[in-house]
Amino acid sequence: MSPGARPRVHVVATPTAALPLLFEELRRVLVPGGLPLVGFATGATYAPFLAGLAERLRRGELPGGFAATHLDEYVGYPPDRPGGMVHELLTACPPLRERLQRGAFLPVPCADDPEAIAAHAARLERAGGIALQFVGIGRNGHIGFNEPGTPFEVGFHVATLAAATRDDARARFAPDEPPLRAVTAGPATILAARRVVLCAFGAAKAPAVAAALEGDLSPLCPASVLRRHPDRVVVLDAAAAAALAAPPRGEDA
Ligand code: GLP
Repeated sequence: MSPGARPRVHVVATPTAALPLLFEELRRVLVPGGLPLVGFATGATYAPFLAGLAERLRRGELPGGFAATHLDEYVGYPPDRPGGMVHELLTACPPLRERLQRGAFLPVPCADDPEAIAAHAARLERAGGIALQFVGIGRNGHIGFNEPGTPFEVGFHVATLAAATRDDARARFAPDEPPLRAVTAGPATILAARRVVLCAFGAAKAPAVAAALEGDLSPLCPASVLRRHPDRVVVLDAAAAAALAAPPRGEDA
């Protein structure tokens, strides 16, 4: 598919109906004896997928192994601190803990420490780079924690969270205030993944999805950068697809 064009869009009836597509994406990168690096995403969007992943890992149902990583972490949230992204991933998919212990889960550092952040990016490279990256989208069009205005050329960095992002995270941290900053994979990091799957469910995501797929290709909508990726796919439920001007009819598999 030509970069800049609208990605292939699958529209499914319900979030649950997306699970077979997501597991098919995962299976495509798993080969016996291989250890591809898979980048997972946090958030409600991916909770059912992570629960299903836990079941499949427990039952030994996947056709090969993988190393895991993810997009972002709040500054000041080490892996076992509730509220953090690694904590969320380990809670949603407990078998990932064993990978973390044996170094096959590369956690995003939680400190505003340029050396640690550069070392993490270098570790991803040494692991062969990200074969498959799952991403969600924020209501303001962010991917990872790349807020509107983040240049597309930026790699891993410390982001200051937008007000809308902090509002969406408020319940997660109540009665405390949500964090102000996070370490995140940049747009350039996400573009470097060999395949990217964007998933969005629910009416609240519809405007951001339409802006990302059909609006200006601009850092003002960070998710629009995915249109520059040569191998990306979008999975939506009907509510998240509702604001698309060009209906994705005929694009579903
Ligand atoms: C956070 C994460 C994103 C995620 C987004 C959507 O902002 N940094 O990676 O995509 O939330 O979350 P949800 O799936 O809960 O809507």
